Amino acid sequence: MKFVIKGGNKLIGEIKLAGAKNAATKMLVASLLTSEPCVLENFPDIGDTKITEELCRSVGSKISREGSVLKIETPEITNSKVVSLTRRNRIPILALGPLLSRVGEAEVPVLGGDRIGPRPVDIHIDALTAMGAKIETLDDRYVASAPQGLHGAEIRLRYPSVGATENTILAAVLAKGRTEIQNAATEPEILDLIKLLQKMGAIIEFGANRTIYIDGVDTLHGATHRIMPDRNEAVSFASLAVATNGRILVQDAHQESLLTFLNVLRRVGGDYKVLDSGIEFWKAVDGPLNPTMIETDTYPGFMTDWQQPVAVLLTQADGVSSIHETVYEDRFGYAQDLNLMGAEIKVQAKCLGELSCRFSGKDFLHSAQFTGPRKLHAANLTVRDLRSGIAHVIAALTAEGESVIDGIEELDRGYENIDERLRKLGANIKRE
Ligand code: EPU
Repeated sequence: MKFVIKGGNKLIGEIKLAGAKNAATKMLVASLLTSEPCVLENFPDIGDTKITEELCRSVGSKISREGSVLKIETPEITNSKVVSLTRRNRIPILALGPLLSRVGEAEVPVLGGDRIGPRPVDIHIDALTAMGAKIETLDDRYVASAPQGLHGAEIRLRYPSVGATENTILAAVLAKGRTEIQNAATEPEILDLIKLLQKMGAIIEFGANRTIYIDGVDTLHGATHRIMPDRNEAVSFASLAVATNGRILVQDAHQESLLTFLNVLRRVGGDYKVLDSGIEFWKAVDGPLNPTMIETDTYPGFMTDWQQPVAVLLTQADGVSSIHETVYEDRFGYAQDLNLMGAEIKVQAKCLGELSCRFSGKDFLHSAQFTGPRKLHAANLTVRDLRSGIAHVIAALTAEGESVIDGIEELDRGYENIDERLRKLGANIKRE
């Protein structure tokens, strides 16, 4: 499927955020920890949640949905081998803990590297192994068992990986004894997952210095939870307002999960007003935007999923800007696409920033230098991954002429009904 986009319209109006993709998918998996029903409100209707629903159904879940309220119940695990899924995302590895807790064995598919780097799961495997899981890695799947059950452990993550932190929490809530996760990730989506687990009866605490403590309990029960709004959608829409010189009220956007972004946006030349109903965004400077240096980092830093929409803004800044990507080794594929549209972006292996970075001195093209402002013109592009796809859409909406963006299934994985919602803001975008 394709989007055909005619650029040039200012986007003006109100748009409501969907529930966070990166919380909703994990909560589906968390519901496997109990035989009772869980009700998830503000549940997004996107490709990634559908893939995860398929995973849950394949192990015995019954799922029903009314509008944005999803009910999931897994009275019994009927199958602990989730290897025959028709489509894949990064979620199956997170099902190991719940399946091991409920039936003592599990098989999940090996997750392929995608187009932003190899994305290994070694930290996940090490953490679960420390908790008593035996995990064999085959070519296409992980085969896991915990004949004696999982037990608590003191675990120090080599890197504060979001997925490994979630995996360890999901395994620890029903494990015997106390688990201490040091150097844990603390993203707001993880806190939202913890809130659901706490409502289900789990005992989880945050300590100082990225430490999370979990006291295992014997059983968990059902719960109802309203999923936090998607902050990645918020950043995408805020960037759109500034890029098109429009004005967008992003309903449900929360300041606390966007603090770092709001500072960067103001430096770049955007502005915002925090309201009770959300945050309104617009372009604050006349003429070109301001050149800015950005480094991505784990929370509370500038998120790696925000650099792509903001990169489109940097192409319109007067002078030299940079982005130093410290989370993924290969997340600048989209620079080629924006260059095709007239941008001037040079990608390089040298760190363009001050943060200490795992990729320093290696051959990963993880820094980008932008020279601007450069007028963007239409192009035919193919989406590489979810976030680069939104950069394509924002660039096409600001560019002169008609762009065709192919492979939009990737965008549908994370953005609910994006074309229809953008049309309501005045975008000229058609799905073909
Ligand atoms: N890493 C390892 N070993 C591991 C796990 C991670 O080396 O065992 C590395 C990764 O290769 C990567 C870095 O650690 O270089 C960060 O990975 P992390 O595990 O934190 O990311 P993730 O859990 O796979 C989630 C989001 C991503 C988001 C990152 C960072 C989901 C489903 N995905 O991925 O979101 O970029 O955290 O915040 O929650 C997206 O939504 O488009 C997306 C890619």
